[in-house]
Amino acid sequence: MEDKKHILVTGGAGFIGSHTVVALFEKGFVPIIVDDLRNAQASVLNQLKEITGQTPIHFPVDCCDKKALKKVFEQFPIAGIIHFAAYKAVGESVSKPLEYYQNNLLSLINILQLAEEFSVRNIVFSSSCTVYGEPENNIVVDESFPIQAANSPYGTTKIFGEKILTDYQAASPHAKVICLRYFNPIGAHKSALIGELPIGKPNNLVPYITQTASGKLEKLTVFGADYPTPDGSCIRDYIHVEDLADAHVHALIYSLEQENSFIEAINIGTGTGTTVLELIHLFEKVTGVKLNYTVGPRREGDITAIYANNEKAKKILQWKPKRTLEESMLSAWRWEQNNTK
Ligand code: WQD
Repeated sequence: MEDKKHILVTGGAGFIGSHTVVALFEKGFVPIIVDDLRNAQASVLNQLKEITGQTPIHFPVDCCDKKALKKVFEQFPIAGIIHFAAYKAVGESVSKPLEYYQNNLLSLINILQLAEEFSVRNIVFSSSCTVYGEPENNIVVDESFPIQAANSPYGTTKIFGEKILTDYQAASPHAKVICLRYFNPIGAHKSALIGELPIGKPNNLVPYITQTASGKLEKLTVFGADYPTPDGSCIRDYIHVEDLADAHVHALIYSLEQENSFIEAINIGTGTGTTVLELIHLFEKVTGVKLNYTVGPRREGDITAIYANNEKAKKILQWKPKRTLEESMLSAWRWEQNNTK
């Protein structure tokens, strides 16, 4: 029996990280979670055991602490790294730019220096459609679209992260790197045991919808219905977090199969655009819950519309989204109900 491959998952207790840990277990990998739980709850680790029947290896380590991080590399024969650990609140990054640059970039540089020292060739990086900025004229973006100046320090850390990886791979004869550019991850695991756990008031739309529906929040404000879109509200590409998790495992397997060094940026989205109002009406339809919402002014920094051309992911990673928007919204609602008990 071939030795099971150990995969380092930084930020593995987080929203996308925890779902990816489940997908890794299901594919026979041994995930090693490095997460100091500053943006996740320790209970996620017990839920992962309940879902998978296996106790995940966990190191409560800050990826900015290179000395502590090195101890993890010394203990296991790591075959690949999936690097999620980063701050990700767009609005917060505007008020705390230095914290975002230090945390998001230093953690990545530490990971790469240790990957080089311990000859870990396969690296999957959590990037974002934010790197496209406000795509001129077109709203369906493919990976050849120019990287635009991001409209937040958070987005800039993703652009810099991809640049650091590009220069690292160019200098390294061994590195095999995939930057996955996520669109809008939503929903929760089918067990409703893990999901999105925003600390405090949610920034993102779907947790705001579910917390309003559960009564945790009084009402939802739609940030603008005067955009040049069919119903005036913004368009995004909402992808089920379990489909997104699967994409990481496909990316890792693809990288493990390649002989030569390479770097690829790949969009991970459904390829379909949905407006805010369409999503609200869909939520009401699938759950039967009437949502208390009003239309308010636009939110600073929002772009009108963007969604993915996901042909490259289908072709290179043999991946495609399997879950419907209805399933995404229903899973988000089940997670909220489970969490409100
Ligand atoms: C979606 C739409 C809002 C809240 C996020 C992440 C970013 C990146 C992409 C990973 C917008 C509207 C929202 C509310 C609303 N992900 N909205 N009322 O801004 O597309 O970006 O996904 O890298 O990091 O921030 O997502 O969910 O905040 O907003 O009307 O209470 O919902 O205006 O049009 P966004 P979002």
